[in-house]
Amino acid sequence: MGPWTNDPLGPQARASADIYWIMFVCAIIVLVIVDGGLIFAGLKFRDRPGHTAKQFHGHNFLELLWTVVPTLMVISFSVLSYQKLNVMNDTRTGAEMTVDVQGQQWTWVMNYPKEDRFKLNDGTYLVGAQELHIPVNTKVRIQLSSKDVIHSFWVPNIGGKKDAVPGRTTDLWIQADKPGTYKGQCFEFCGTGHADMLITLVVHPKAEYATWAKGAVAEAGRLSDPATKKGRETFLALACTGCHTVKGTTAAGKVGPELSNVASKKSIAAGLLSPVNEETLTRWIKNPPAVKPGTLMPSLGLSDEQVHDIVQWLLTLK
Ligand code: CUA
Repeated sequence: MGPWTNDPLGPQARASADIYWIMFVCAIIVLVIVDGGLIFAGLKFRDRPGHTAKQFHGHNFLELLWTVVPTLMVISFSVLSYQKLNVMNDTRTGAEMTVDVQGQQWTWVMNYPKEDRFKLNDGTYLVGAQELHIPVNTKVRIQLSSKDVIHSFWVPNIGGKKDAVPGRTTDLWIQADKPGTYKGQCFEFCGTGHADMLITLVVHPKAEYATWAKGAVAEAGRLSDPATKKGRETFLALACTGCHTVKGTTAAGKVGPELSNVASKKSIAAGLLSPVNEETLTRWIKNPPAVKPGTLMPSLGLSDEQVHDIVQWLLTLK
């Protein structure tokens, strides 16, 4: 099965799938008994040539039965739901790490815990966008917040969902049985980019998680080299992030080309400018429509200094 709640691959998702299946099966049994009885009685006892339907009412045993049984069922469902919800809402017991996840139009920003293994050279901690990496068989607490409107975090196979609400924090926990890549999706309509607000949950074998963290920290460190830090910060603060993706940063836009290794490309502007160097990048960013009429990339009216800073940073993206 695909990314769907009925294919639970972790204890959190399993808890809700269990309730679903128990209630679903009970509902089917009730449906068969009630509708079966109705159809049977209608056919067998109906008024027809050679058979006169008897008129009667009141049957103590039956009335007791169809009062007591549904009451017991509803009580059991309540107790069961209460028990499972207690497990599902217990975000603290046994949680081995907490990731701070912020929803924003239209991406998820993953702030890894302030632990040494996620620490960058400049003293900040690892941040990712859209992709969340966790170790297998580990209870991970997700602390949710939102920068703008209500979003909802949901990775169907693993568990959730929970709203990310502006002005407050909410939390949930996730845990995966097997390593792999799981798809998730923002589940609260949050604007035109809602459908693109995906979550990719990457689950690593426990022994390999440290290696992944080391690589991600090194990659992020390269991107935040102090010499080009200003350009990076300028880029990430501008509208650029809405259209372009740069792996290892919060830029995760899908409209424009990915820039994770733009400095290694042969050309930019759909081949109009090559090679990729300071001169061509500067020309392009200063006024894209002048180079390529009709391009979706607008002239942002940046100062020469801003363009210079951004270009210096882009040149490090190899
Ligand atoms: Cu964010 Cu829908």
